[in-house]
Amino acid sequence: MDVILLAGGKGTRLHPLTQDIPKPMVPVVNRPWLHHLAEVIEALPVSGIRCAVHYRWEAIRDMYRSWFKGHIPVKLVLEREALGTGGAIRNAAAGIADTFMVLNADVVPGMDLRDLIRFHKENKADCTIALTRVEDPSAYGVVELSSESRIMRFVEKPAPDEAPSNLINAGVYVMEPNVLDYIPGDRPVSVEREIFPELIRRGLRVYGFTSGFYWNDIGTRNGYLTTHWDILDGRMPVRLPDAQYLHDPGENIRICHKAHVEPGVRLIGPVFIGEGCTIRSGATIGPRVVLGPHVRVGRGSIIRDSVIWAGAQIGSNAFMEECIVGFNTVIEDSRKAKAELIRGRCAWESATRPVTASS
Ligand code: GTP
Repeated sequence: MDVILLAGGKGTRLHPLTQDIPKPMVPVVNRPWLHHLAEVIEALPVSGIRCAVHYRWEAIRDMYRSWFKGHIPVKLVLEREALGTGGAIRNAAAGIADTFMVLNADVVPGMDLRDLIRFHKENKADCTIALTRVEDPSAYGVVELSSESRIMRFVEKPAPDEAPSNLINAGVYVMEPNVLDYIPGDRPVSVEREIFPELIRRGLRVYGFTSGFYWNDIGTRNGYLTTHWDILDGRMPVRLPDAQYLHDPGENIRICHKAHVEPGVRLIGPVFIGEGCTIRSGATIGPRVVLGPHVRVGRGSIIRDSVIWAGAQIGSNAFMEECIVGFNTVIEDSRKAKAELIRGRCAWESATRPVTASS
């Protein structure tokens, strides 16, 4: 089976952090997200990966060309103009004659993808959409399912009392090649907003797969941060860079090679400290903090609920809460920031490359 990865979006909800790198390459616990996702796919019975790229695509090319060593052949399909999610599928799927899978490259798919394929085959579906539950569906497109899990209709952003369910599209699909006939080839098309409703109107067998799996989306500040906390707490198993637990694993404080934590630093787990970091005395790190490789934190600074990317320097007596701080960003002394995406000088070429033996 072939897998199409949709990796060409602009990632505007993570701007300015995605001004230099495509969203699939943002670091998640110190490795590019696409690296984690590629390992998830490597474990599947997959014959080929087609990665549909557009925005800042060179970073993805470099990962596959120079340092990601997988055993499944990868073909990058470059869109000179963005084709939208539907157009990208049609373009990348050219020549596929059998069932294939599509994944948004920004989702964290905790479902067993083999179960999803089995479900698709058992239902003789034309298209199966993995669905995930959300507490408040009013910001999403939700689906109405029949008792046999067939999708009857989509409702965009329903009022809370009018939502037919709290199930939303998880960005993971299994498709038969006949679906491609319904995607126009002459303009950008959204698979979610245009093609799926069209398939239902035309009477194709569109099914919804729900099984209470873990799911998240790294494409928003909140989704990006909560993905980290869930990974640190073991709710989403991905392979992390080599790190040692400090004292007791129960404290969930992990420190990579060559990190220097001065006496008088307070660490509150879960915390992950990257290779070669320096944390000066009087700083408080955590709970819920990931420091990328070679981050420096000055005296007396407080960082919590935040992810700091490689090479950033946080001055003294700064306060960071619910922030994402980009590669090599310099935060001045005494700066206070809450719920911000902060980008300084980016050098993604060095910053996104693996820095530890296990990466
Ligand atoms: P936002 O601008 O923050 O909405 O992010 P986005 O541009 O990535 O859009 P969205 O999250 O809706 O996209 C879902 C998935 O489809 C992501 O993995 C995107 O990389 C991918 N995607 C979106 N548009 C395109 C496109 O035109 N071409 C390709 N190849 N992929 C796309």
